[in-house]
Amino acid sequence: KLTVEDLELKGKKVLMRVDFNVPLKEVDGQQEVANDNRIVAALPSIKYVLSQGGRAVLFSHLGRIKSEDDKPALSMKPVAQRLADLLGQPVTFVPAIEGPELEDSINKLEDGQVLIFENTRYADVVDGEVVKRESKNDPDLGAYWASLGDVFVNDAFGTAHRSHASNAGIAANVAQTAAGYLMEKEIKFLGGAVENPERPFVAIIGGAKVSDKITIIQNLLEKADKVIVGGGMAYTFAAAKGEKIGNSLYEEDKVELAKQLIADAGEKLVLPVDAVAADKFANDADSYVAEGDIKDGYMGLDIGPKSVELFKSVLAGAKTVVWNGPMGVFEMDNFAKGTLAIGEELVNVTENGATTIVGGGDSTAAVQQLGVADKLSHISTGGGASLEYLEGKTLPGIAAISEK
Ligand code: 3PG
Repeated sequence: KLTVEDLELKGKKVLMRVDFNVPLKEVDGQQEVANDNRIVAALPSIKYVLSQGGRAVLFSHLGRIKSEDDKPALSMKPVAQRLADLLGQPVTFVPAIEGPELEDSINKLEDGQVLIFENTRYADVVDGEVVKRESKNDPDLGAYWASLGDVFVNDAFGTAHRSHASNAGIAANVAQTAAGYLMEKEIKFLGGAVENPERPFVAIIGGAKVSDKITIIQNLLEKADKVIVGGGMAYTFAAAKGEKIGNSLYEEDKVELAKQLIADAGEKLVLPVDAVAADKFANDADSYVAEGDIKDGYMGLDIGPKSVELFKSVLAGAKTVVWNGPMGVFEMDNFAKGTLAIGEELVNVTENGATTIVGGGDSTAAVQQLGVADKLSHISTGGGASLEYLEGKTLPGIAAISEK
C-alpha cells in the first residue's frame, strides 16, 4: 500500500481524512473533548506531514447529524482546540465545510501549518433538509473536497467501514490515496492477526448479543486455534447446551445457530463454565456463583472464577491474541472482575512475547479502566471498523488506498 512517506509533501496542500469522532462533554456550558485517544493516535501522521513542509488540511466527521439542531453540539471546534494543545502549535479552525472562507483559508496556509474544517457530516443536512451528501457519498461533494488539495492521506481507520464522500468519495477523485501511519498500524496488527497470525492464535469474543458477533465468531473459528466466547451472548450458548439460564440475556432465534456452532467447532470453541448470577441488573444485586444452571429469578452478569481460570489456561502460550467485547457488565464494579481478569492476563501474555490486539469500544474502555492499554501490543481506534475487519470484510476505506 502507498503510505504518507511515499508522497512529495513540501509546499503541498495535504488533505488528511482523520477519525476525530471522539466523545465530547459539556463543561460550564462549553463542549470539550472527553477522550482524545483518536486525536493522539493521528498525531504521528500529522506531525510527519508538517515536518516535511506540508500544509495540512484536516477533516473528520463527528457524531451523526440528523437535523440542523444537531449541528451546534457536534462542531469540530473543541476538537481543533485539543489538537492545537497536543500539537503545541496553532490550528486554524474553519467553521465551514465548503465555500470561499474555507478555500481562502486553505490557500493562505504556509508550509508546516495546519487547518481543520467543520464536521463533514454537516453536509448530511442542508437548509433543514436531510440529504446525506456525506453519508451517501454524493460524488460532487467528494470531487469538491478532492479539489481543495494536492495530495490525499487517509488515516481514518475508524471510518474505514464507511463509504462516505470524505473517504471513498475523495479517493475516487484523486490520482493516489496514501495511508497514514495509524491506518498502516491498524492494518498491520488487525490484518496481520486475521490473515497471518503467529500461532497459537486465540480470539476472545464477548459482548451482549450473538447476533452482533456471529460473523466474527464464524470467521475466527476458521482462522484461530481457539475462540473463547464470554459476555451476555454466552447465555444463548449455555441455553443451547440445555442449561437453565434464569433471566440472563437470551436470543431465542439464535439457539439453533449456537447449537450448530458448538457441534461444528468442537474443542476450538471455549465457553464459560460458571457465571456470577444476580437477582437484578444492578451493582447492589444479590449475587452468587452459578456452575451450570442459573437459579430462577437470577441472571448471569459476569463469568465466574472457574471460567477465568479456564480462559487463562487457554491463553497461556498464545502467540497472537485478539480481544473484542467484555466478559460481563464491567461498568458495574461487582460484575467487572471477569473482564478485568482477561485484561490483566493479556498483559502477562504480552510480556511472554505474544502480540495482543484489542478492538471495539467496550474492551478498549476496559483496558483503559485497568490502566494497561500501553502494556498491550495494539489498541485499535476502530469500533465498527475493527469489528468488520475481524469479520473478514473488505473495508471500503482500506480498499480505496492506492497500491505502491
Ligand atoms: C466510529 O466511531 O465507529 C466511527 O467514527 C464511525 O462512526 P459512525 O458509526 O457514526 O459512522
